[in-house]
Amino acid sequence: MKNINITKKITQGMYVLTTKNGGCIVDAVSQVSAGDNPLIAVSIMKKNYTNELLKSNNKFAISILGKDVNPEIIKTFGFNSSRDINKFEKTETTKIEEIDVINNSLGYMICEIIDSIDNETHTVFIGKIIEADVFKEKEPMSYGYYQEHKEELLKVNTEKGKTAWICTVCGYIYYGDEIPDDFKCPVCGVPKELFKIK
Ligand SMILES: Cc1cc2nc3c(=O)[nH]c(=O)nc-3n(C[C@H](O)[C@H](O)[C@H](O)COP(=O)(O)O)c2cc1C
Repeated sequence: MKNINITKKITQGMYVLTTKNGGCIVDAVSQVSAGDNPLIAVSIMKKNYTNELLKSNNKFAISILGKDVNPEIIKTFGFNSSRDINKFEKTETTKIEEIDVINNSLGYMICEIIDSIDNETHTVFIGKIIEADVFKEKEPMSYGYYQEHKEELLKVNTEKGKTAWICTVCGYIYYGDEIPDDFKCPVCGVPKELFKIK
């Protein structure tokens, strides 16, 4: 492969995928057909609880995040698992078609899952849009914007006596004076070499 970095030029957005009992931040979302009920493809890591949920639920919602989103939503849905916390306790949502959509978003699409494709690490779920609405006409947050601004968006107070290390790929913060050699980012899986002191 000559240069895989060309994939960084693919424009992606920032979304919260929700489904019954959970959900997570996703950037791997694409509209893959047009018409009255367009198809949406979304790729979910197999290690995420959301993947398990989508295999037993038949619907999901995609809430589109704006540049003005409260960063707490990114922290809650992107750096925690619904295996450990109830993400909806901290976040204002509205139930639409039985799914919680994020109030602090630009709008949403509710999709009915019609197919899925599994590979080693991810499942691509294909959903047909059955309901959608716009909450406000503001600028969406692109994944590129998140990457450029993640340090200020995720401002952290260093825990007393501990160093904060930021994952340069996804923004996850690890607290500790040293990162163990075998450490892998719990969100995106990259090794300790891709963390830097914040
Ligand atoms: C900026 C950003 C983008 C992400 N994009 C994806 C994605 O496209 N697909 C995915 O499965 N996880 C993605 N994640 C990771 C999940 O949001 C994260 O692992 C979450 O904690 C999983 O929660 P769960 O175990 O409740 O499903 C992303 C995280 C961040 C911060």
